[in-house]
Formats: sequence, structure tokens, C-alpha cells
Amino acid sequence: MRKAYFFLCLSGLLALPLHAQDDRQYQEWMRSMFPSLGAIRNAPDNAAAAAAAGKLADTFDQVAAYWTSKQSPDALGFAEVARDAARAIAAGSDKTSNLRKIQAQCNGCHMAHRGDDDPDRPIKGGKFPAGWSVIPDRGTVDQISYVLSGNLYRFAMGPAGTFYSNSWTKLGNYEFSARLTQKEAPSHPISYGLMIGGSSLGTPNETYSYFLVRNRGEYYIANREGDRTWFSPRIYSTKLAVTVAEWTAHPAIVKQGTDGRQINTLGVQVTDDQVIFKVNGTEVTRLPKGKLHTDGMYGFRIGHNLDVDVDQVTR
Ligand code: HEC
Repeated sequence: MRKAYFFLCLSGLLALPLHAQDDRQYQEWMRSMFPSLGAIRNAPDNAAAAAAAGKLADTFDQVAAYWTSKQSPDALGFAEVARDAARAIAAGSDKTSNLRKIQAQCNGCHMAHRGDDDPDRPIKGGKFPAGWSVIPDRGTVDQISYVLSGNLYRFAMGPAGTFYSNSWTKLGNYEFSARLTQKEAPSHPISYGLMIGGSSLGTPNETYSYFLVRNRGEYYIANREGDRTWFSPRIYSTKLAVTVAEWTAHPAIVKQGTDGRQINTLGVQVTDDQVIFKVNGTEVTRLPKGKLHTDGMYGFRIGHNLDVDVDQVTR
């Protein structure tokens, strides 16, 4: 066990990030994986399962060729074992045990090779103002610093996180706004903003909505809809974010300046049937209330590696 763990750590360190030009094709293969697995699992008969399994095996063949070209024998091994298990299903052998075998390859390869070309910076944190909690997107809360001094909320992020207070809850119609200051330029556009409508926060069933900006002068709105899991959270689990409004440029959003700072006041106004999103007092969009989570806890969502100050909170 210890040996296996050591091996995974080692191969993780040595893993090379994917090259940009390969990304899209590779991600297409990966995005076809869950639909293929689902088709195999839910196949009404052997013929349907065989077709889906054949397609999955072909995809793993391409994945294997990719890793051959990268001279990465362990990744190649994961892809080949998965491919052979898919071929076995296509040839009529047991679905359940072969699916488990495939899933183990997904997991093993992801742990070793699903790299991040922008790792979270080390931050010493973990102590938060009374009543406040944070849900980190990955890693632990010790990698996030959040200090409240007077009316100034200061965030220094390792991983991205969603912040909420047990005394900040709203139902029905309300307004919530705050001024957010990105203090230093991030290495690539990273978002931050407001969170509303939170429930079951910190659990795999958590739901909430968020309204973010980033340095290019764009906004984004999405819902968190719990975790997506496959077989079990231990085998595959990812926080499922569902986009409600894609990244959109708006002139009301002040862009990052040459000093790396970006300052905007973000506001959310919940009415009987709509939610109005504002930046610096200007409406950037409005959406039907039914598309969002609005009742519940609220707070902030800050992207990874950012230093953000928040003040002028109106709630
Ligand atoms: C041989 C290694 C390997 C195997 C086997 C593998 N994956 Fe992946 N997977 C990766 C890598 C590497 C990435 C990251 C790709 C990137 O960031 O561009 C990835 C990314 C993904 C993604 C995210 C794609 C996106 O939208 O960016 C999904 C979903 C995924 N894999 C599903 C699966 C499933 C399900 C299986 C098993 C049926 C599986 N993968 C098997 C290596 C593997």
C-alpha cells in the first residue's frame, strides 16, 4: 500500500502537463467517457452494451496512442487495461466487474497525470472570523487565509473557496452588495465575487449561486449543484458547476489596471420573480428567479491564488 502510494506521488511529480494543441482533442475523448460508461451500464440488451463498449475501447486506443507518443508507460498501462476491459464487455463478458476495472484505470491515471499547470500557492491560514466557514475547491482550509478587521474582509487564497457565515441568511426579496478589490494581478484571469442562496453548504449536496467578475472586465453566473460522483465519491467526485450566464464583457465592469488592481462593487437584487445583477450600480443582466438559488446563506466566492479585499458590504 505504502509502495503504491509512493509510486503515485512520484509519477505525479514527474507528470508532464498536456500541450495546448493536444488539449482539445484529449478533452473530447475524456468528455465522451462518462456518456460511454452510462450507455454500457444502462444498455437494454447485450447488443447495445457491446456497441457502447466497442466505442469506449476505440477511444481508449486513441488515448493509449497519445500516451505512447508521450513515452509515459504508466499512463499507457492504464489506458490499455481500460481498453481491454472495454473489449471484454464488447465480447460479452461480465459488465459489472469490467466496469469496475475500467473505473480503477480512470482513477489511477487521473491521480498521476491530471496535472494542474497553475498549482495553488502555499498559504498559511485555517483560522476564520467567528461564525465564518469556507469550502475549499480542493486541498484544505489551512491553505486559505481570511481575516476580518473592522469592516474590511481580507482574503488570501491558496485553492479557490466559497465563504459563508452562520449569521448571514436571506429569504425572499433582498439586496446584497459589496466592493471587491483584487490587489494583485493573477497569472491568468481568475474570478471572484458574491455567493447567494446557499444550502447544505460543505456537504456533497450543497447548492448555491454565484456572480463573479475577472480582470478582463467580464462577469459570470453559475449554480453549484452538489457533487457529481461516479460509483462513489472516493472513486470519482467533482463539484458540479452549471453555467447560467457565460463569461460576458460589460463596460460597467472596471478592468484590472496597470498596477494589477481591479475594483468593482458587485450587487445582487432578488425581486419577486427576477434576480438583477449589478456592477458599480449598473445592471449587467437579469435572470428569472427560477434559474438560480436565492434563499439561504450568502457570502463570497474567491478564486485560487488571489488576494482580494472586500468592504462597503450592504446586506
Ligand atoms: C491514461 C490516463 C487516463 C485515463 C485512463 C482516463 N483519463 Fe480522464 N483525464 C486524463 C487526463 C490527463 C485529464 C486532464 C486533461 C486536461 O486537463 O486537458 C483527464 C480529464 C478527464 C476529464 C475532464 C475533461 C475536461 O472536460 O476537461 C474527464 C471528465 C475524464 N478525464 C473522465 C475520465 C473517465 C470517466 C475515465 C475512465 C472511464 C478516464 N477519464 C480515464 C487522463 C486519463
